[in-house]
Amino acid sequence: DTVEWDPEDAGKGEYDHYMLKEINNQPTSLSNTIEGRIDDGDVALEELPAGTFEDVETVQFVACGTSYHAAMYGANLLRSAGISTEVVRASEYASMSGPVDEGTLVVAVTQSGETADTLEAVREATARGARSLAVTNVVGSTAAREADDAVYIRAGPEVGVAATKTFSSQAVTLALLTQRLAADVPDATPAADRETMLEELKDLPEHVEQVLETTDAETLARDTVDSKSYFFIGNGLGHSVALEGALKFKEITYEHAEGFAAGELKHGPLALVTDESPVFAVATGSGDGKTKTNAIEAQTRGAPIVAVSPDDHPLTDVAEVHLSIPDTHPVWAGLLANVQLQLVSYHAADLLERPIDKPRNLAKSVTVE
Ligand code: G6P
Repeated sequence: DTVEWDPEDAGKGEYDHYMLKEINNQPTSLSNTIEGRIDDGDVALEELPAGTFEDVETVQFVACGTSYHAAMYGANLLRSAGISTEVVRASEYASMSGPVDEGTLVVAVTQSGETADTLEAVREATARGARSLAVTNVVGSTAAREADDAVYIRAGPEVGVAATKTFSSQAVTLALLTQRLAADVPDATPAADRETMLEELKDLPEHVEQVLETTDAETLARDTVDSKSYFFIGNGLGHSVALEGALKFKEITYEHAEGFAAGELKHGPLALVTDESPVFAVATGSGDGKTKTNAIEAQTRGAPIVAVSPDDHPLTDVAEVHLSIPDTHPVWAGLLANVQLQLVSYHAADLLERPIDKPRNLAKSVTVE
């Protein structure tokens, strides 16, 4: 007898798909991202020593797809540190970015370091006088080589086209970068609770492990998989997670999914909300009031509400279903919620028998503009 053997399957181990393997790899990949980068209550990035960013006045993030959502996460943190920040879709950079000069740091967030739109945006910013930094997973990639500086997310190779563990590692790397910038940039204000935040970061891999061990995502996927549309809402950091949740869902299930800033739901999208459109509400423990009031608006129109939040969060009062995340600092809570949403997308796509690791029409790295 011969056994059919596809060499590409060899690396999947006990998992049916690379995506599930990579979701489950996050406690390890996040440990690698963090390793050696928290020192004595402070951030230590060996690629970017103290003082690296003394001349920076404003920061522009450029990125595409999932990396754009990680960039939104980072930009939100940077603004909290009082640093003037823009986040621009790389393909829109030429027409959408604000003024650029020598005080501008353009930060390219790109897993592969090869995305043509992102490389082009950095080249344009550099030509206009900006200094550049690549935040990437691939050592020696074009972005890493072309940028003035590079910092690595250390997530390890990702095979699934839908980015999972690299999003988590990008967001954590950007949170660490925020602390470096907040210390260097004149007039910036490092987070008052920095030490607590960094202590909680050390627990993030273990918290992800808890989510993976206790998740109800598969049951939820089974119960909702024949819905018409899937909406994802959140505020602040939760907004970027909502957008990422919806992108992941549509990429691999081929079902209609959209993410919104919670408060924006009532300005149009609410027209689409019915009892056949579950609304996933992401709570981080900070600024969730709008998420709750808008979830109630959706519920009034019959939508089943799924709260992705810590256990005793007010959102759970209005939700039919609750996907639980461990209590942690609000800066990391969104990443735990995102792991729950990755699992929902995975299980929904699996039930629908989609080709999870290689969705139609998509490529892992898009090298054309
Ligand atoms: C493609 C992939 C996405 C990815 C995006 C940006 O569209 O399908 O998963 O988020 O490119 O890729 P990058 O390598 O720049 O992070």
